[in-house]
Amino acid sequence: MAKVRNEFELKPNPKSGRYRLISANWKMNLNHLEAIRNVQKLTFLLRPADYSYTEISIHPPFTDLRPLQLLIDSDRMRFRLGAQNCHFEPSGAYTGEISAPMLAKMSVSHVIVGHSERRKYFGESDDMIRAKVGAVFASQMTPIICVGESLEEREEAQTEARIRSQVESALSFLAPELAERCVIAYEPIWAIGTGVSANPTDAQKGALIIRSVFADLWGTGVADKVRIQYGGSVNPSNAAEFMQLDDIDGLLVGGAALDPDSFARIIQA
Ligand code: PGA
Repeated sequence: MAKVRNEFELKPNPKSGRYRLISANWKMNLNHLEAIRNVQKLTFLLRPADYSYTEISIHPPFTDLRPLQLLIDSDRMRFRLGAQNCHFEPSGAYTGEISAPMLAKMSVSHVIVGHSERRKYFGESDDMIRAKVGAVFASQMTPIICVGESLEEREEAQTEARIRSQVESALSFLAPELAERCVIAYEPIWAIGTGVSANPTDAQKGALIIRSVFADLWGTGVADKVRIQYGGSVNPSNAAEFMQLDDIDGLLVGGAALDPDSFARIIQA
């Protein structure tokens, strides 16, 4: 049993030695009042054992961060505060953006980087994603880097090539001590928000591809340590089968994390 950040008693997965991480990606949902109610209700639904089984990070919109930080601190809740994005520069003339140091100052510990919705709707390039990973680490936070193939790439048997190029371009500059601290979310684009999740075989295959890229870049020691989440239409009925896979260490949950009841059931699955 290890203590993470002192107050969190967390047990690693006995099979892999890795700590599990289940993350709620709220996307552009829930205002700050709804956010407070949601997290209070989630706390009410979870049992102490749930927190020692897995780390739980909540990634609300930026406007919810400050109220949730106060709530988590004052009620000593055992959630990690997460963000969905950040800018790669620490400050400057970037209207509308939020920097990594600003997030770190607000006790944010995990930042999602390169979500497929950011790549698609906001034109995030591999170069930007690489710079953001560097910025998140420079502020002593953990990046959750999203990778995954589109439906066309899957149909053209390009899944492995796509995942490999996304991981290499985002991370190959990292020293091994940082590489092993990354969290990678394998999120096949065709499974996000569609209600059609990957099947466990595909999820395990995706995770193995990611580990093999890590092994090629930094060796098997690092590849064995990196944590890999599955994301894409996770719900209370399919969560357990993903969590049982050898190479999946957690989940990145969108739609089903908006309802505290269903998110609690995913954690407890
Ligand atoms: P979903 O989203 O669970 O609603 O499919 C997952 C994600 O985009 O991270």
